[in-house]
Amino acid sequence: MCITSDFKDVGLPFERLKELKAAIKAGGATSYLEVVSLDKESEIASAKAAVEIGVDILLGGTNVDAVLPVLAGTDIKYFPFPGWIEGHPSVLAGSIDEVVDGAVELAAREGVHGLDLLAYRSTENVTGLMAAVCAAENKPVIMAGSIGSRERIEIVRRSGAAGFTIGTAALDGDFPADSPELETQLRSIQRDVAGVNNHLSPHAPKNLDAAFASFSDTWSPRVAGQVNDMAIKLAKFEGVFVWHHHETEDEMFFVHKGRLLMKFRDRDEVINEGEFIIVQHEVEHCPVALDGTCEVLLVEPATTVSTATLWTPTA
Ligand code: NI
Repeated sequence: MCITSDFKDVGLPFERLKELKAAIKAGGATSYLEVVSLDKESEIASAKAAVEIGVDILLGGTNVDAVLPVLAGTDIKYFPFPGWIEGHPSVLAGSIDEVVDGAVELAAREGVHGLDLLAYRSTENVTGLMAAVCAAENKPVIMAGSIGSRERIEIVRRSGAAGFTIGTAALDGDFPADSPELETQLRSIQRDVAGVNNHLSPHAPKNLDAAFASFSDTWSPRVAGQVNDMAIKLAKFEGVFVWHHHETEDEMFFVHKGRLLMKFRDRDEVINEGEFIIVQHEVEHCPVALDGTCEVLLVEPATTVSTATLWTPTA
């Protein structure tokens, strides 16, 4: 589900709309123009404006027969309003079944790429209406009108909508946020959409010095992270470990501090700070910490039986 960079055909002067569209494009975003005037002449004018501005998507409007010829030959995607729209602010008339039938018929038309459903302007059960239209329709459905809270965004998402528009709530400073100022409103909407989409980032850097400072026991790897099926482990080595091998698991040893001697049956290898060595499965090896404590970052399958329980330091 996306937030649309939406601007309406009622508002800014034409030249400012062109500047805005250029800024949206420069930001790598998709531009949408939403038609809120419903008389035929205004809609044709809006469609012509959409072509001249070069928006990516034209939302709204009901005079499809008049708009399609204007958009013909352009790359503009068209998402008109299904159903019967009355007044401004608009009201969506008709029963759920009637709106669904109209939506399916409309979306089937050539040149119509999706729908803009004024769901919250319906007097029917809005949740049921949204779900019914999305279920009946393969083309993307964007929900419009009176979406002004995280709760409603969540309901819209669950309905199967491809996105939603938000206008008045943010412009009036009514979206729940720290301040009514527009930028704060938009940041809050982005944050809530990220939350609804489970896109909130849990990512933060981990510092190896701090992580190693947090424990002191040796030969006792602790899991610091996981990458798919591979565990990232931190361990402090001291002295000589035992000869062993792993049946199926490869191991990587990255030396953060100190020096590590990896003994193999045919030779020894010294791994210095900032270096790593990969020991393939079935190969016998015996790690030895040189010069006191050696801090090692291990990468190995998370399923690896903890060798720590088998480890019996011999010196
Ligand atoms: Ni091993």
